[in-house]
Amino acid sequence: MGKYNKKHAALLDRSYQTPEIVNQRLRTLAAMALNTGESVLDAGCGTGLLLEQEALAVGKEGRAEGIDQSADMLELAGTRCADMPQLRLRQGSVETLPFEAASFDALSCTQALLYVDKLDQALHEFHRVLKPGGRIALLETDWSGAILNSHDRALTQRIFGAWDAEVINPNLPKRLRPLLQGLGFGALRVEAIPILNPSYSKHSFSAGMLKNFATVARRRDAISPTESDEWLAGIDSLIERDEYFFCVNRFLFTAVK
Ligand SMILES: C[S@@+](CC[C@H](N)C(=O)[O-])C[C@H]1O[C@@H](n2cnc3c(N)ncnc32)[C@H](O)[C@@H]1O
Repeated sequence: MGKYNKKHAALLDRSYQTPEIVNQRLRTLAAMALNTGESVLDAGCGTGLLLEQEALAVGKEGRAEGIDQSADMLELAGTRCADMPQLRLRQGSVETLPFEAASFDALSCTQALLYVDKLDQALHEFHRVLKPGGRIALLETDWSGAILNSHDRALTQRIFGAWDAEVINPNLPKRLRPLLQGLGFGALRVEAIPILNPSYSKHSFSAGMLKNFATVARRRDAISPTESDEWLAGIDSLIERDEYFFCVNRFLFTAVK
């Protein structure tokens, strides 16, 4: 789902305010260690949830830029981040950043590289716009390691496989370390941030995703409509028996130019 429209943007904005994703954002922000007066770019900023926090961290003396290709995402970001003179939003691609070399002290890109056509070019751009000593924070997910209790494990794996197949760069965490090192980034650190739902809550990240998983798998013909219905009904029965369990890891990569 690289091209977000209004409906997708609103759904994502809600899903990214669940406690698990709030925690992920706080950990990303902490790893970036922003200081007052610094300049920061959030590449693929979406609805501005991280960018708003970054702008608060650098303060009015600093500069926070957000770039995203989706006008509908940027509209929500604009509402969220109104009245922050240090913050600017631009529509554009992370593959060709409209910034001079060595413009930023820090750069984040969370859950966006999976959609990017020219991945190498985007990473090269990230390196270019960072100042020497500038910090980068990239966050991606590997759905091949996702766990969901269900009555049919093979069917669940087919569904997560279809979810992966929906994006241009699935399973990116396995590839990011050598890519960053190849660009000359140093001080590389990687941490796993689990999205863990050991029991069911309708307010959890995974609860909001279950129907999406089935819809995407059906649309990609990875499962039949009957399999989709049976899969969702099977999970409902596990929820009733209090046997729900979900976990997937996000991976946070930080490095220095
Ligand atoms: C899953 S959302 C993540 C948004 C935000 N980074 C966050 O974590 O809340 C992915 C975002 O990447 C943007 N995106 C995808 N490909 C892009 C590209 N080539 N250039 C700029 N933005 C892109 C999408 O429009 C979308 O807003």
